[in-house]
Amino acid sequence: MSAALGDCRTGAAAWPSVPDMPTLPGGWALARMSARDLDAVVDIEQRAYSHPWTRGNFENSVKAGHIGLTLRDPAGQLAGYAVLMPVVDEMHLLNITIEPARHRQGLGKLLLAVALATAHQHRLPNVLLEVRPSNTAALALYEAAGFETIGRRRGYYPAADGAREDALVLRRRWDTERDKEQGREQGNAPEESA
Ligand SMILES: CC(C)(COP(=O)(O)OP(=O)(O)OC[C@H]1O[C@@H](n2cnc3c(N)ncnc32)[C@H](O)[C@@H]1OP(=O)(O)O)[C@@H](O)C(=O)NCCC(=O)NCCS
Repeated sequence: MSAALGDCRTGAAAWPSVPDMPTLPGGWALARMSARDLDAVVDIEQRAYSHPWTRGNFENSVKAGHIGLTLRDPAGQLAGYAVLMPVVDEMHLLNITIEPARHRQGLGKLLLAVALATAHQHRLPNVLLEVRPSNTAALALYEAAGFETIGRRRGYYPAADGAREDALVLRRRWDTERDKEQGREQGNAPEESA
């Protein structure tokens, strides 16, 4: 089942209470991250973060069976990616990144909706993530998507000049009873590409 999230450039549509897979704009493609993607992924990662993941971090993540997702534009250029890790009854969003030159075009919202829908497909109704309190862009995105702050990890992240920054722990969950009431089919594995 899929549902449009509205025009990804306006970001105007409301977040659904139960996360259906959003419809991608024409020509855009979603795929599972593989070793072939890593040059482009690492290039974006290094430009997007003060303390980026290394290539080895991504390689280990793919090898460990984490769910890496890539979002490519109609020309095949990588626009963003996300990494999800299922843990028992939760899905951890380990990384979500949009190519810096494409920020504020609705792509982060689109990719986050894909991540939530992927958790839903895996029957994991809790999505958790960590974020720097200074990352106001990401915090605004997560809060708009219905995440709530459930904790703080002191000194979790490296910061400038050897200092440390806390992490906020955020969670988004949805009502699985509503799924049952609506007779939704769940548990479909994510597509290799869409
Ligand atoms: C966080 C990130 C993924 C957002 O991606 P994006 O494509 O720019 O976000 P969108 O255009 O989809 O914005 C969706 C909403 O997020 C919020 N938002 C995004 N960027 C923002 C900014 N710079 N300031 C304030 N709010 C912002 C807004 O609520 C926005 O909705 P609006 O445009 O209707 O106001 C992107 O900034 C990014 O890749 N940052 C670097 C990597 C990172 O920090 N990832 C998160 C790690 S926890």
